[in-house]
Amino acid sequence: MAFPLVLGPLVLGIESSCDETAVALVRGDRTILAQRIASQDEAHRPFGGVVPELAARAHADRLAPMIAAVLAEAGVTLNDVDAIAGTAGPGLIGGVMVGLVTAKALAYAADKPLIAVNHLEGHALSPRLADASLQFPYLLLLVSGGHCQLLGVEGVGRYRRLATTIDDAVGEAFDKSAKLLGLGFPGGPALERAARDGDPRRFALPRPLVGSNDPHFSFAGLKSAVLRARAGIADPSDQDIADLAASFQQAATDCLVDRTARAILAFPQASALVVAGGVAANQAIRGALARLAGRYHLPFVAPPLWLCTDNAAMIAWAGLERLALGDTDDLHARARPRWPLDPDAEVARGAGVKA
Ligand code: KG4
Ligand code: ZN
Repeated sequence: MAFPLVLGPLVLGIESSCDETAVALVRGDRTILAQRIASQDEAHRPFGGVVPELAARAHADRLAPMIAAVLAEAGVTLNDVDAIAGTAGPGLIGGVMVGLVTAKALAYAADKPLIAVNHLEGHALSPRLADASLQFPYLLLLVSGGHCQLLGVEGVGRYRRLATTIDDAVGEAFDKSAKLLGLGFPGGPALERAARDGDPRRFALPRPLVGSNDPHFSFAGLKSAVLRARAGIADPSDQDIADLAASFQQAATDCLVDRTARAILAFPQASALVVAGGVAANQAIRGALARLAGRYHLPFVAPPLWLCTDNAAMIAWAGLERLALGDTDDLHARARPRWPLDPDAEVARGAGVKA
């Protein structure tokens, strides 16, 4: 008689903290049995940014059929699932509540443990879903639409924040600059495309905090410089816009590389340099970070592009990592608009500091 292979527990993950509705079934051996990601770009495009109320309604409309589809594709029922992991924050609170309440309802109905996942922990652990050899501790550059942080990742639930932004997140700077340049929504990928045909040396844009002893990031001044440079060209050609996009992308990349180099020295125990979050999908930034890691003889780990932007596989994976430690939640878990990974980190000086 053949014995079944031990393939590890099965976790259903739900993500709804911004404008992607996503569901995934992931197994402890890193197999993604099935997943769906529904982007809401079309709904938000007329407004040039994510409208929280529209996002929450779209999540509410879509989640139930997507969960049914993922279970059907994997050929399992809720009874076969070992835990339900749902994003509980940080993010747009309406959407977070829709996803978390759905996760709670499934956990209650099927009598399975609930794992209320921090979305940032999902990004932070996602490189370990893609790369089984990645061990703690590692240095993580977490770059998304709402966050720009350097974290010493010491273990599951153990994060040391080494730096954060004192104003805008880098993804926000990409999105706002893309909007200023008329490149459309969502801005990050559009700006990267435009920059491909541009001259990154044409516009001398600032590199805020580069070379500074202060560990943090700042992008607000760079975005304002893009606005001024754009206003200085009366009737911009496609080439002008491409040059400005390339100059912005180069300046943002230089800032990320300089701050990360400083953090490599501040966290010498790191076994690898890792990048995660939506902005990690940017090829110019990935390339520059790979060269930086090479200079310090550190392995460089970047998840595949689809795993960088918001998805539910990373939420299911964070659930699996926590389940392995017996760290589950009860049905009272709260939805949280703000939820820092390192609650002990000092407040960074500056205006619009995010979690
Ligand atoms: O992680 P994510 O999907 O959602 C948040 O948790 O914020 O990150 C979205 C951010 C947006 O600001 C988007 O413009 C940016 O990631 N982004 C990019 C690229 N793809 C997504 N930024 C630069 N280049 C890209 N290719
Ligand atoms: Zn995200």
